[in-house]
Amino acid sequence: MLQVDRLSKRYGDRVAVNAISFSIAQGETVGLLGPNGAGKTTAIGMISGITRPDAGEVSLGGVSLAQNANALKRHVGLVPQDLALYEELSASANLQLFGGLYGLGAAELQPRAKTALALVGLAHRDTDRVKTFSGGMKRRLNIAGALLHDPDLILLNEPTVGVDPQSRNAIFDNLEELKRRGKTLLYTTHYMEEAERLCDRVLILDHGQILANDTVAHFKQQYTNLEAARRSWSNRGSA
Ligand SMILES: Nc1ncnc2c1ncn2[C@@H]1O[C@H](COP(=O)(O)OP(=O)(O)OP(=O)(O)O)[C@@H](O)[C@H]1O
Ligand SMILES: [Mg+2]
Repeated sequence: MLQVDRLSKRYGDRVAVNAISFSIAQGETVGLLGPNGAGKTTAIGMISGITRPDAGEVSLGGVSLAQNANALKRHVGLVPQDLALYEELSASANLQLFGGLYGLGAAELQPRAKTALALVGLAHRDTDRVKTFSGGMKRRLNIAGALLHDPDLILLNEPTVGVDPQSRNAIFDNLEELKRRGKTLLYTTHYMEEAERLCDRVLILDHGQILANDTVAHFKQQYTNLEAARRSWSNRGSA
């Protein structure tokens, strides 16, 4: 469904993303892992059309997104790393604003806002101002904002940062529901255990390059072998 082909971006002398290529099948959930500064946000920015690539191409279902802004708007939802919410406005009012960005009219927006709020478990707080929300609730509203136009591909940039384990679980339940509905997810995180719980496959990004692209099961197997090798090596050393 998503095809990323030799996508590159530099800032001055610094190469943020270095000719990365990968694809994601319809309904697949892929983790994008890497340390601070690895290039995750830059990559997500280019895929979502916010950041202009220096080179390379992103296409969705065979359609180049650079040449088809409409396809991008219709089919891709972005959950940004930083919260993009108006604290003084209610949850519903925030979603009305988001919906406007996606080109949704008032009539269709209302039921969609309701559905999105229900999906992230915030239906009962729809008229409350965002400033009265906990950090985890704000994170969930941030996710709802990306779901209004019912996108096929959802890009999530560290959606669980700064939330407690309970809220993280609630967010994961929301994401698992999206998976069940057949959505395609690209999930950015620093944590392998998050990827393990949610993702079918992981991409490891470092210094702008993809170091690994594998299923979580295969990854774990490799890791176990590595641990076993280390143990046997240290046993031999001490014998
Ligand atoms: N607007 C910008 N101007 C200059 N350099 C930038 C800009 N955005 C990112 N960079 C640089 O590009 C590199 C990749 O940054 P990016 O934000 O993509 O990393 P990241 O993997 O998302 O990191 P984090 O885990 O901290 O969010 C870093 O070296 C960063 O300093
Ligand atoms: Mg980032």
